[in-house]
Amino acid sequence: MKKTKLTRRLTAAFALVREGRTVADIGTDHAYLPIALVKEGKCDHAYASDVGKGPLERAKENISEAGLEDKIETVLTDGAAYFDSLADEFIIAGMGGELIYRIISQAPFLKNESIHMVLQPMTKVPYVRTALLNDGFYIHKESLVKEDGKIYTVMSVYWDGKKRELSPIEALTGRVEDAVADGNVRLFCDLLSLIIHDLDNRIYGKREAGEDTGEESNLRRQLQELRRKLNENI
Ligand SMILES: C[S@@+](CC[C@H](N)C(=O)[O-])C[C@H]1O[C@@H](n2cnc3c(N)ncnc32)[C@H](O)[C@@H]1O
Repeated sequence: MKKTKLTRRLTAAFALVREGRTVADIGTDHAYLPIALVKEGKCDHAYASDVGKGPLERAKENISEAGLEDKIETVLTDGAAYFDSLADEFIIAGMGGELIYRIISQAPFLKNESIHMVLQPMTKVPYVRTALLNDGFYIHKESLVKEDGKIYTVMSVYWDGKKRELSPIEALTGRVEDAVADGNVRLFCDLLSLIIHDLDNRIYGKREAGEDTGEESNLRRQLQELRRKLNENI
């Protein structure tokens, strides 16, 4: 049997999955996550689903190679709606933030206190945070990982129906406390540098267009100050 070695990004997602649940991995592609979860005894039964026939074939091959056809079911379906009442642990990883949030919005049963989601948006992370909180979800924890020079955010998310406010800084960066708890302050500072760089580009573009840059400049100052304080304590 071929050993499935998870990348750092997928390892971080693996770590956030609750034990003993029925997992649905939406957009599974290679099915590495459900395979690892079942192989390592973190879950007994999983669904590996994808909207694409090619990716699902890849998933099937890998599941069969791992000898796990009786424990991991493959499902060709768009999004998460199919899994109403079938799973209580959802992974949606490796897709753009807007697509991830569309998948969540189209599966209203996910708004349930017994359901947990592990999300790993490749883009638009601040948008995902804000959309989640607007819809009564809360981010229990975020992990940061660096893989091939890129920084990825992986989120552990529950729903309780309460609306929560997110400061503009926290929407952009996530909670500094999570990075501190994980010993990831240096990585968090690297993330701040990337966000500051993006803001610089936005400020430049707006200035060129003769638009007001007060909001961006203010955010930039706060982020620089946060990075300075964190750097002092590393
Ligand atoms: C880049 S792969 C990510 C694979 C894996 N989840 C990971 O993080 O490594 C994205 C996968 O999502 C699938 N996908 C895209 N839109 C989807 C949708 N609406 N429903 C289910 N799967 C989708 C694609 O077919 C593709 O296989």
